[in-house]
Amino acid sequence: MRDRVDSLRLQFQNELKDLQRSKDVEELKVRYLGKKGILAELMFFLRDCPPQDRPVWGQLINAVKEEITTTLDRALEAFILSEEKKRLEEEWIDITLPGRRKFCGRYHPISAMLEKALNTLSSMGFSVQYGPDIEDDWYNFEGLNFPKDHPARDMQDTFYIADNLLLRTHTSNTQLRVMEKQAPPIRIVAPGTVYRNEDISARSHVFFHQIEGIYIDKKVSLVDLLSTMKEFWCRLFQKSLDMRFRPSYFPFVEPGVEVDLRCTSCEGGGCRLCKYSGWLEVAGAGMVHPEVLKNGGIDPEIYSGYAWGMGIERLAMIRYGIKDIRQFAQNDMGLLEQF
Ligand code: DAH
Repeated sequence: MRDRVDSLRLQFQNELKDLQRSKDVEELKVRYLGKKGILAELMFFLRDCPPQDRPVWGQLINAVKEEITTTLDRALEAFILSEEKKRLEEEWIDITLPGRRKFCGRYHPISAMLEKALNTLSSMGFSVQYGPDIEDDWYNFEGLNFPKDHPARDMQDTFYIADNLLLRTHTSNTQLRVMEKQAPPIRIVAPGTVYRNEDISARSHVFFHQIEGIYIDKKVSLVDLLSTMKEFWCRLFQKSLDMRFRPSYFPFVEPGVEVDLRCTSCEGGGCRLCKYSGWLEVAGAGMVHPEVLKNGGIDPEIYSGYAWGMGIERLAMIRYGIKDIRQFAQNDMGLLEQF
């Protein structure tokens, strides 16, 4: 037995020399100390030996078992340490390198402006309704009191899809649709894309966005329009702003006005944004024409209303100081990332 243990010890010493990594140590451990390992086998052999020899041989086996256990544990510890050290050296991180940028989505300035305007309007009691982008002549023109020979109907301004079908030229197309569906009081805003067959330039595009607003009830007057406009612009720009109405003509309102805001940039002193006039044109508005009310099934003897329409690109250009309307549709990341 002594010889057996000695040769086992020798065999172990030899194998120990060949170990390269912690994984080898663990494999060796299983081979020597595992349930079916070499030492377990030796213990098994003890059963067959003469009973008087058992204590001595048992001690011999236990001693070598302990020896192997401690040696292997130490080896394992040493390998783990050196492997960890190597790993840390290899995984050296240069903390002076700039981080990798994460791209995250954000609102397009038009969507942001639209949302802000709609939030403001709903805080003032207007609910949101939508009209169709593809419209017929009645809702876009005829029903809104556009004379047959009105220049806005001209092929140059309107994209026609078929004889009676066109891409809406303004969100005013929603006016009659709402009146047909709903009895007064009506207090809605209708946002959407509008289309015009125009030359694309820094100031005009073939499609852009508008919000139409309409309020119809008993005894609605121009003063209501004026005060609602003023309240809206002040809330939108979060400051007190001067506003003025200039007489203007739109077939579907009478009287018609153009709404000007005191320039938000120079506050009236004159700058490039307001072309040194001190005023910014921000909306068309007026009192809903009695003919239009009639076309919408509303009795103009009982009810009156105001309506206004404004361009979102125009507002965004004012708010963000963008000088060219084409930039909104160019998908230029340099511009879009600023919002
Ligand atoms: N629809 C007009 C346009 O696109 C804007 C407008 C003017 C709307 C006067 C209105 C209004 O509701 O009363 O130019």
